[in-house]
This record gives sequence, structure tokens and C-alpha cells, in this order.
Amino acid sequence: MAIHKPVLLKEALDFLKVEKGKRFIDATVGEGGHALAIAQRGGIVLGIDQDPRILEQAKRSLGNKAVLIQGNFKEIERIARENIFTEVDGILMDLGISSWHLKESGRGFSFQKDEPLDMRADPNLSVTAADLLNGLTKNELKELFQKYGEEERAPQLAAAVVRARSLKPFRTTADLVGVVEKVRRTKDARRDRIHPATKIFQALRIAVNDEVENLRSVLPRAFEVLGAGGRLVVVSFHSLEDREVKRFFRQMEEQGRGLVLTEKPLTPTAAEVAQNPQSRSARLRAIKRNGRLASRT
Ligand SMILES: C[S@@+](CC[C@H](N)C(=O)[O-])C[C@H]1O[C@@H](n2cnc3c(N)ncnc32)[C@H](O)[C@@H]1O
Repeated sequence: MAIHKPVLLKEALDFLKVEKGKRFIDATVGEGGHALAIAQRGGIVLGIDQDPRILEQAKRSLGNKAVLIQGNFKEIERIARENIFTEVDGILMDLGISSWHLKESGRGFSFQKDEPLDMRADPNLSVTAADLLNGLTKNELKELFQKYGEEERAPQLAAAVVRARSLKPFRTTADLVGVVEKVRRTKDARRDRIHPATKIFQALRIAVNDEVENLRSVLPRAFEVLGAGGRLVVVSFHSLEDREVKRFFRQMEEQGRGLVLTEKPLTPTAAEVAQNPQSRSARLRAIKRNGRLASRT
């Protein structure tokens, strides 16, 4: 089993100020790496994840050290209320998908495996990555690749997808990788340090799971669930997410409702990246909800 290594773990725990008896929500509990560390420091944890399969992994690593709830984090207020976890001391969001999703879920998140092009992190969602590739217009595909993948060859890739699907509908990751490699291989291969399909896979995953909208909608809701002095810590993995977090935190500070604890986002050390390459694009930002006294400690 691929074990998920919690990213920026020490930094997250320090910004959350985990102490015995304090209450925390891990809104992206995944395999439970961060949640377990919080519980081991004496924190009381409510863990949320949209994926029932990954909650089974979390249950295995956490046992009865946390309350685990399946749901979308945009429902954090309801979930917190129903579990008597309001006015909490801290909320953690470690966005995206877990190593288990990439390596073991069989849902086509990785271009390194040949699997059905599904990419739903929540199996209750109705639209898969294959549905998008086979159903969107050329222009919609171009916009999706540009907006969520920041892919410079979006027009050429959209055209190639439309050409390929007129011969055979997209079903597997290999179908997509084949098309992407034909477009990007010649000119880009030497310059790129990432696999040519990285950005397209990211774009499809974000669209299938509505990741940017979910983040936009959870931030103010999570802030409401914090008690005075409570901390919200967000680890994001691409610039679209980081921009949303930065904008929201700044807004809270301007309104006098919070104090941003990270002037610049924290990034993993070279040692962490060497040990866990998936951490390389992580950015951590933290904010403290204002109580009566506002201080950065
Ligand atoms: C990077 S992993 C978290 C790993 C976890 N911190 C650990 O140490 O094991 C992100 C998790 O967040 C979940 N997730 C992403 N968006 C979500 C959402 N909108 N609602 C609930 N869970 C979400 C994913 O299903 C995934 O399991």
C-alpha cells in the first residue's frame, strides 16, 4: 500500500498550535497522516473526506482517535454543528488528492498507469474525465486546459482531442497520454521538466471535482467554524488554489476579522522534497481568527 506522507507536517502542526485537549477539524483527512499527528499531540479531531474509500484507510490508521465523516468540505458548517465541533481551535485543509488516489484507486488520476479515465474523488459525482473529453466542444476543452492546467498548448491539445475522439471515444488514461504526447513531444520535450500530460491531467481532475469552486466556497465557511483565536491552515498545490487562499486571507485581514500568520507561503525544504517528491509544489498559508487580542503569536 502506498502510504501518504503528510506534507509540511511540522509546519502545519506549529501553525495550528496543537495542544492537549484542543479541538481540530481536518477537512481533508485522506489517509489520516496529519490527523494522526494532531491526535498524538493530544488534539481532539474531527476528520472529513469526500471519498468513502479513503476514509476506510483513515479509519485503519486512526482507529478511535478521531471522529470520521464522509462529506464535501463545503458543508463544513453543517458537519461541524452535527458533530458538536463548532468554535474549534483549528482547521486544516491539505488540498487535492492523496497518494492512494494516484497509485491505488484505479480511477485514472495518474498518467503513469493505464486505467479508466474517471478521476472522481467522490464516487457520487456524475461526470467523469472521459465524459468531459468526449462531450465538451473544442472551445470548452481549450478553456478548460487553459484555465485549470495553465497549458500553453491548449488550442492544439483541444483540437487533437476532438480529432482523436472522432475515431474512437476516450476511455483510458493511455488514450489521453497518446494524444498529448503527439502534440507536445517534438517541441517541448527537451525544455519540460514535467511529464507532457501533467497539466492536462491536473486540469481534468480540477474540473471533474469542481476543486476551485469548492475551495472558494469552503474558505468563508471554515472561518465561521473557528472560535476566537482559532487558526485556519491551508496547504495548496497549484497557483489557482494558492491565489484563492491568499485573496481570502487578505480580505479577512482587511476587514479586521483575522491576522495572516504567513506573510509569504511556506514551502517544503529540499530535504522534504527529496524524501517526498509529491510535496514539491506545496504552499502553506495560515490565518488566525481575531479574538479580543490580535497578536501574531
Ligand atoms: C492531499 S490528501 C490529504 C492527505 C492527508 N492530509 C494525510 O496526511 O493523509 C487530500 C484529501 O482531501 C480530500 N478532499 C479534496 N477535496 C475535498 C472536498 N471538497 N471535500 C472533502 N474532501 C476533499 C481528498 O479526497 C483527499 O483524500
